[in-house]
Amino acid sequence: MNKKSIALFASGNGSNAVNLIHFFQNHPKIEVKTLICNKADAPVVAKAESLGVEVLVFSNEEFESGLTVLQELDYRAIDWIVLAGFLRKIPVNIIRGYQNRIINIHPSLLPKYGGKGMYGKFVHSAVIEAKELKSGISIHLVNEEFDEGEILAQFETQLTSNDTCDSLTEKIHALEHKHFPIIVEQTVLNH
Ligand code: GAR
Repeated sequence: MNKKSIALFASGNGSNAVNLIHFFQNHPKIEVKTLICNKADAPVVAKAESLGVEVLVFSNEEFESGLTVLQELDYRAIDWIVLAGFLRKIPVNIIRGYQNRIINIHPSLLPKYGGKGMYGKFVHSAVIEAKELKSGISIHLVNEEFDEGEILAQFETQLTSNDTCDSLTEKIHALEHKHFPIIVEQTVLNH
């Protein structure tokens, strides 16, 4: 049987992308075929390459049109797109081309702290500012509305009054690294 192939999309440091690459190395049914990035100097580029994963970097214009990206995905027979810290909006033609086959991770308990401009530290600062008692992660399918696709899984972490943006970032990354690969695996195998 052919393995299901994943394209990872990442924009920055890439701890989730690296974690997913490790998880699916030698997996019998799923492989990470390529990593797509929108910034040539993002740390994730060198990290993925050093793990033997092909990296494609596209300009913002190429991302906005979506056409070249779709062609490259098609050429590699990519089955699923996994957004692992990808900070650009996905154009409608890619969403339609991969209907219910794009998985995103968001570092809050959606629908709270989602939408435009809510990513990475902006989410954590808003959560701390609002003195929330808990936060967490949401893993969801991507549809045409930002951060509003079907939720596949959510995991929570408690906050204390001592938490800062940095300590919350660490707690969230720990949750992401523990759960994201398993939810991706289940989703890809069961859909
Ligand atoms: C992760 O926490 C991810 O949930 C978040 O960016 C971080 C990337 O970290 N994504 C979003 O905010 C998307 N709206 P990483 O580069 O170390 O994986």
